[in-house]
Amino acid sequence: MTTIPNSNEHPVVITIFGGTGDLAHRKLIPALYNLYLDQHLHQKFLILCLGTSIPSRDILVKDLKSGVDKYSRRGKTKKAEWEQFVKNIEYLRGDLNQPKLYMQIKKIISNFSKGEKIVSRNFFLAVPPKFIGTIAHNLGEVGFAGDRINTRIVVEKPFGSDLKSAQILNLQLKKIFHENQIYRIDHYLGKETVQNILAFRFANALFEPIWNRNFINSVQITVAEKIGVEERGSYYEQSGALRDMIQNHVMQLLCLIAMEPPVSFDADEVRNKKADVLRAIRPIKKENVHDVAVRGQYSEGWIEGKKVKGYRQEKNVSPQSVTETYAAVKFNIENWRWNDVPFYVRSGKRMAQAITVITIEFKPVPHQSFPIEANENWRTNLLMIYIQPDMGIRLRMQAKRPGPQMLLTPVDMIFNYKDSYEGTTPEAYETLLQDVIEGDATLFMRADQVEAAWELVEPILECWQANPSVNFPNYEAGTAGPEGADSLIGQDGYKWITMPMSKKSHAHD
Ligand code: BG6
Repeated sequence: MTTIPNSNEHPVVITIFGGTGDLAHRKLIPALYNLYLDQHLHQKFLILCLGTSIPSRDILVKDLKSGVDKYSRRGKTKKAEWEQFVKNIEYLRGDLNQPKLYMQIKKIISNFSKGEKIVSRNFFLAVPPKFIGTIAHNLGEVGFAGDRINTRIVVEKPFGSDLKSAQILNLQLKKIFHENQIYRIDHYLGKETVQNILAFRFANALFEPIWNRNFINSVQITVAEKIGVEERGSYYEQSGALRDMIQNHVMQLLCLIAMEPPVSFDADEVRNKKADVLRAIRPIKKENVHDVAVRGQYSEGWIEGKKVKGYRQEKNVSPQSVTETYAAVKFNIENWRWNDVPFYVRSGKRMAQAITVITIEFKPVPHQSFPIEANENWRTNLLMIYIQPDMGIRLRMQAKRPGPQMLLTPVDMIFNYKDSYEGTTPEAYETLLQDVIEGDATLFMRADQVEAAWELVEPILECWQANPSVNFPNYEAGTAGPEGADSLIGQDGYKWITMPMSKKSHAHD
């Protein structure tokens, strides 16, 4: 998000708690390696990996290399570059609960910092939430929290499992660190196409005047995945789709679509505007949950021609599990811009297609000038913002079909990243880590935002917990989700729209 590339201005230390874990392997080290190759890191840098599960530095480095080879957007590492890079990686084994570990960290960082005026110190917590309080406390004890400008603590999701636990985490962090040192990650905010929502909305004069209830009928946000829960059964059993995706990623997308124009791109200004959206969402009453929220769980089915297990048959999942792998919710935003415009959001695993897309449906024209025959194929204007895997924007309009008669038909204007830009776009974690190092918190969640988002989904969580679904599983893997989700939107006269970007609009869409 930074507009001036100066992340390489000062020497930098990135200490990764959970440095032997899956996130470091798949995301953090590949991202840091790419920042290094793109010269976004200062030439003097240190990546200090903390963990216990790997016996030595050599084995850790091998493991990290295999992660980069597999997951980096650049593909396999080149020997000379990698060897230079790993010289900057240190490994420290130790118990996170022991103050001794923090003394060792302090010593390593002090040695690194000798003779430097400014060093950017970043503590990345890729660990379960139960360790956050201990780590923050111990970092404070050895004096790391004092430098408010150059020391940051980065906290991965899940940030709590409900409002209360999120409040406790915030208290634990804020006891030691100042809010502007705390970087709560929602990796969706680091995605290029998500940041582009801001550019698209606020760098074009065209859209803002019609971005409101006078012109827009409804908004849909779909985050559909083909993958199941993979190896994360135990985590997911405690989480479910509402906590895992809606409370964070989906709500953040909703905020970016619904927020008022910020006066500047100052982190707090942007975050204030997003927080305003969360505050304006009509709270859902527990007794109304069944009218505005639908849950689902996948049974076995077929994905890409392969038979896949049902959720209850996945590893570390209870055969009687009532955890939802799909959630759809209707939100209403009560303000001048959005009153009466429904926002339908949904997210599910093991869906027919992997697609993250935001669909804005505009109102019909006020008067149809064309004869009925011409209008047979008439459709409302749609603006579809494709986040992934397609990346781009499609505007559906009406045009005259060529021929002697006046017949209207839907056509598309498409902006596709692939056609407009060369090369690969940075991964979300590259953007986010660079922002952390530079101290730009715009793309990170502030305490009040996280709590407001929990507050909004809490009645649904409570209602679902009190009334475990008896009809699970209720959608087959490889389908579009439970029927109830179609009724949720259908009762208001809408349909879910998820055309992939490559598919042309047709009259029947
Ligand atoms: C994570 C969720 O936050 O996001 C996962 O815990 C989900 O369940 C993932 O699969 C999706 O992220 P992305 O970037 O692949 O869309």
